[in-house]
Amino acid sequence: MNEYNISSLEQYFQVYRASVEQPEALWEAIAEEHFEWHKKWDRVLDWDFSTPEVKWFSGAKLNITVNCIDRHLEQRGNKTAILFEPNDPNAPAQHISYKQLSEQVNKMANVMLAQGVKKGDRVCIYMPMIPALAVSVLACARIGAIHSVVFAGFSAAALATRINDSDCSMVITADGGFRGAKEIPLKAIVDEALEHCPSVQKVLVEKRTHTAVSMHPQRDAWLAPLLEQAATHCPPVWMDAEDPLFILYTSGSTGKPKGMVHSTAGYMVYAAYTFKNIFQYEEEDIYWCTADIGWITGHSYIVYGPLANGATTVIFEGVPSYPDYDRFWEIVAKHKITQFYTAPTAIRALAKEGEAHVKKHDISSLKVLGTVGEPINEEAWQWYDTYIGKGECPITDTWWQTETGGIMIAPIPFVTPTNPTFATLPFIGIQPALMDTEGKEVHGNNVQGRLCIKYPWPSMARTIWGDHKRYFDTYFSSFPGHYFSGDGALRDAVGYYRITGRVDDVIIVSGHNLGTAPIEDAINEHPAVAESAIVGYPHDVKGNALFGFIILKEQHDPKDQQALVKTINALIASQVGPIAKLDKMEFVTGLPKTRSGKIMRRILRKIAHGQVDQLGDTSTLLNPEVVDQIIKQVL
Ligand code: WTA
Repeated sequence: MNEYNISSLEQYFQVYRASVEQPEALWEAIAEEHFEWHKKWDRVLDWDFSTPEVKWFSGAKLNITVNCIDRHLEQRGNKTAILFEPNDPNAPAQHISYKQLSEQVNKMANVMLAQGVKKGDRVCIYMPMIPALAVSVLACARIGAIHSVVFAGFSAAALATRINDSDCSMVITADGGFRGAKEIPLKAIVDEALEHCPSVQKVLVEKRTHTAVSMHPQRDAWLAPLLEQAATHCPPVWMDAEDPLFILYTSGSTGKPKGMVHSTAGYMVYAAYTFKNIFQYEEEDIYWCTADIGWITGHSYIVYGPLANGATTVIFEGVPSYPDYDRFWEIVAKHKITQFYTAPTAIRALAKEGEAHVKKHDISSLKVLGTVGEPINEEAWQWYDTYIGKGECPITDTWWQTETGGIMIAPIPFVTPTNPTFATLPFIGIQPALMDTEGKEVHGNNVQGRLCIKYPWPSMARTIWGDHKRYFDTYFSSFPGHYFSGDGALRDAVGYYRITGRVDDVIIVSGHNLGTAPIEDAINEHPAVAESAIVGYPHDVKGNALFGFIILKEQHDPKDQQALVKTINALIASQVGPIAKLDKMEFVTGLPKTRSGKIMRRILRKIAHGQVDQLGDTSTLLNPEVVDQIIKQVL
């Protein structure tokens, strides 16, 4: 059985069955044959979802950068590892070979060591989408430092929260970043954040925009002169299989962001194996994922998964609309991209601008298309299929999460027949279950429920940094013995899964997960605001947009309200980030609450959706009269 290359539906079912009946044997075979280990494992899997504790490949020693870089040097030393496409379409693309990547990563690792970073230390990376970002990530992995990449669109306050939560001792950043016509002052944002971050000893700064920045004399250093002097070899630090590789923050429905902790061996095996199959990657391919490395998609499917397979992975600094809406297709044509992986929100935004932008370019190199981050609607799927895939490129709609580390449910291109809006079948080793609200599994087909996973998979997060109890409470307490994703799903007549969306208070806006709590906290900081509640409502391009229901301390006349809308959004932008701004605000006199005082977001959601005839029974509310008032105001 060739389990590493799934190339027919029959083989998929065969390997899938093996992964359920003898999971340890299957994962052991994959790990054994396709990776380099400094020492092999003593045990393949130990697990207990009641605590929860999960260990894969216990006793093994490895370094993921040996698997992503060193082992390719002999065969693929001159092959392009990273193909960098800058924001400015007139600036030349950069081809970084495996050999060059090796040198850069080793130098960077030596610089970090010289600055006192040790195995297990946390390093925050806050960078634009440039090669130095991937190099920094890999340099951390080289020396066993735990990277915590924070998306460079987050505000200073959001950055500070994340740095403090995991006590990072170093921040790696750039003077600034280019995004379309904009320049983002990254170093200035870091400076502002670090006023509140006592743990940070050192800041390393890459030059990108060449704008003037202030450098704190003891704390800050430019990277270039340090790298120039660094040696090009840095021996890999041997990591235990379960040593943390990285922390990545994701929004929760309540409270502060959760630092999901991913460990080394299982993550590597699963990211590499899913990449190979779900993108049907072959040696000469040029693969492009448009996500930012600041999200899990970038970690697993720009950096680790592709490099572990010796692939060429594109890093794009810019945005799809700059200098015009044909930028993606221009890049596809220029680099002869074979696999293209993006978010439904980008597809909707580009579809809106019309096909003329696509038709300007020869995109016939494409073989496989992918989507990730939110449910894809039928219209966007058809547009993607017709105008980008020309009906010939299978679309892999990949369902997964920061917490899962790798793709969980997705069609395998050329293997699994696709069905628009369906993520289709579980990947090898993934055992989904749909649960009813009473906590019982719903069996059979043509059923719906809350999407859980019954059995461990190698790349699942192991804990929440510093808060294992929260990890248990969030993911393992709702349905004992199961991992609960927070998503709802249905299983159709043939057993295909379709993700129906979040069942908690996380709202996905343009593919970004936003928790309602931090946004409400930001709004409530405004001196005029007494209380607020946020819900999502459907939006053409973003998928969901945010609707805020806000109670003011005193009545304001409508003229002042306009100004309030602006200042509240500015507050959200500075506390959370511009992506969390509200599209609609309604100033109300009350919010529907249960008798125990909990805001009934369900009712607000229906109102925001315009479904006021589906409110259900509101008579048990503490204050049913406010519902009518709000409806009158909104409609
Ligand atoms: C949603 C992104 C439908 C889902 C990799 C999940 C999706 C959350 C899909 C995780 C998809 C992701 N179809 N919904 N193909 N992919 N989601 O942590 O609600 O940024 O729980 O990870 O995005 O988002 P995260």
